[in-house]
Amino acid sequence: MPTESIRPARLAPSRIVPTYTWIAPVHDGLARLVEARARRLGLGWAAVRDGETVVEVAVGTGLSFRHLLLANPHGWTEGIDLTPAMLRRAERRVARTGRTNYRLRLGNARALPYPDAYADLLVNSYMFDLLPVADFVPVLREFHRVLKPGGRLVMMNMTIGTRWIHHLWEGLYRLYPPLLGGCRGVAVAPYCEQAGFAPVRRAFVSQWSFPSEVIHAEKPT
Ligand SMILES: C[S@@+](CC[C@H](N)C(=O)[O-])C[C@H]1O[C@@H](n2cnc3c(N)ncnc32)[C@H](O)[C@@H]1O
Repeated sequence: MPTESIRPARLAPSRIVPTYTWIAPVHDGLARLVEARARRLGLGWAAVRDGETVVEVAVGTGLSFRHLLLANPHGWTEGIDLTPAMLRRAERRVARTGRTNYRLRLGNARALPYPDAYADLLVNSYMFDLLPVADFVPVLREFHRVLKPGGRLVMMNMTIGTRWIHHLWEGLYRLYPPLLGGCRGVAVAPYCEQAGFAPVRRAFVSQWSFPSEVIHAEKPT
C-alpha cells in the first residue's frame, strides 16, 4: 500500500475532544454498522489469555473494552481516552459487567500513563485514522515501550480500499471531515515495522463498503 495515498489529517488535534463530545451519543450506531466485522476479527486475533495485563488506548465508548475485560476475569484491564464524554459512556458500559479488575482514565496515546514493559497486549482501534502521518511512528514507539517483550499489538483502522465503492466513505471525509469523526483511510502496517514490531500481519475487511484494516504485530523478545 503506497503510504503517499494517505490523505492529510484535517481534524486538528485541538478539535478531537469537541468533535467526539458531540459524536459520543451517536458513535455506537455507526460503529456497529460499519466496524463490527473488523472489531470481531481484531478481538479474535487479540486472543486474550486470562490473567494478562491488557491495555486499550482510545477506548471510546468501551465497545472493545467490555469484551477485553470479560475475557480476562483473573487479569487486569486498563484503558484510556482523550475525550471525557466518550470515557463516561465506557464507564457506564463497563460498570454493568459487575467486574472490578479494571481501570479507565483520561489519557493521551502520545504519552501513555504506563511504565515500560507493562502490558502483554495493547489494543487500539479507529484512532490512527485521526492522527497526522508524522505521529504514526512516535505513537507506535510509545505502544512498543509499554508492551513486554513478546507482547502483542492489535489495531483496527479505517483504511484505503481498492474498489471504487470503498472510496465513497473517503468522499464524506473530503466533503466535511467531522462527518466521519475526522477519520480517513490509513495503512499503518509499514509504520509498525519502523517502530520495531515484527512480525506484522494485516487483513482487509469491508462492511457496507467501509474499508478497515486489522493488524497484529509483536514486540520481539
Ligand atoms: C473513532 S473513535 C474510536 C473509539 C474506539 N476505539 C472504538 O473503536 O469504538 C476515536 C477515539 O479516539 C480517541 N482519541 C483520539 N486521539 C486520541 C489520543 N491522542 N489519545 C487517546 N485517545 C484519542 C477519541 O477521543 C475517540 O474516543
